[in-house]
Amino acid sequence: MPNQSRTFSHLISGLNSTFVAKFNYGRGIFEHQWTSSHHPDGTRTGLGPLYNGTGCAQCHVRDGRGQPPGPEAPEISGFVMQLGVATVASAALTPDPNYGWQLQDRAIDGVRPEGRVVVNYTSVPTRLGEETVQLRRPSYDVVDLAYGPLASGIRFGPRVAPPVFGLGYVSAIDPADIIANADDNDLDGDGISGRPNFVTDPVSGKAQLGRFGWKASEPSIRAQAQRAAAIDIGLSSPDHLSPYGDCMATQAICDADKTGKPEP
Ligand code: HEC
Repeated sequence: MPNQSRTFSHLISGLNSTFVAKFNYGRGIFEHQWTSSHHPDGTRTGLGPLYNGTGCAQCHVRDGRGQPPGPEAPEISGFVMQLGVATVASAALTPDPNYGWQLQDRAIDGVRPEGRVVVNYTSVPTRLGEETVQLRRPSYDVVDLAYGPLASGIRFGPRVAPPVFGLGYVSAIDPADIIANADDNDLDGDGISGRPNFVTDPVSGKAQLGRFGWKASEPSIRAQAQRAAAIDIGLSSPDHLSPYGDCMATQAICDADKTGKPEP
């Protein structure tokens, strides 16, 4: 009888011992609950100062998906609010000058979290075949802002954590196959449209096909993981340009935290 709670967490069969060891090392990091650098136990520390979760598995519960907040689950679990400012000069979004790329709703002791997301739902009657069903349309508010106003023209990107199993297979798809299947305007009429997203690989600095995240914003699992470490948990990594997570120049608390050295 397989362990039900681990249904989606098994490694594929047939791996040699080197890959089994890598898998187990990765799982250890994924399931680790990080603490702040000021924590007395001193091991695997570096949480924050601003963060959304204390570990990967907190949002990707049992390697599965997160949950949007709602009346039945007011505590946010595996949901984040990404931020972006549209500038006239370029189509690309830039981070909010005070809050960065994401609203961190948690912080280590002595630091104020950036704010809180409130979600309200309106019931919308919708035809589904023969039936009329009630669907919920969310609207988002960010409250209790601790570091000044959000930029004018701020755009919210609410995101629920997707499942993370099977992504090795997604990595293995040839980019040419993804590009060949692009169908921006659903010309083949199968009800599915999509176009490839090209992004800059933070490691190589080159344009690459995006594959991960709801909008294919990250080119590799490595890039997605280092972004998650920095922005969701506040951990630095060799790849991430800012060793201090999603802190902005206006957030003096992050400067204070820089006395701690970046996590290796
Ligand atoms: C605070 C919640 C949170 C934490 C903590 C978190 N994630 Fe995520 N994760 C998300 C969200 C939300 C997305 C979707 C992001 C997007 O679409 O831009 C995501 C996306 C991903 C994806 C892409 C999945 C796909 O199908 O494309 C991977 C891989 C991933 N996370 C790995 C990690 C790892 C590794 C860690 C720990 C270092 C981690 N995550 C920590 C919320 C979280």
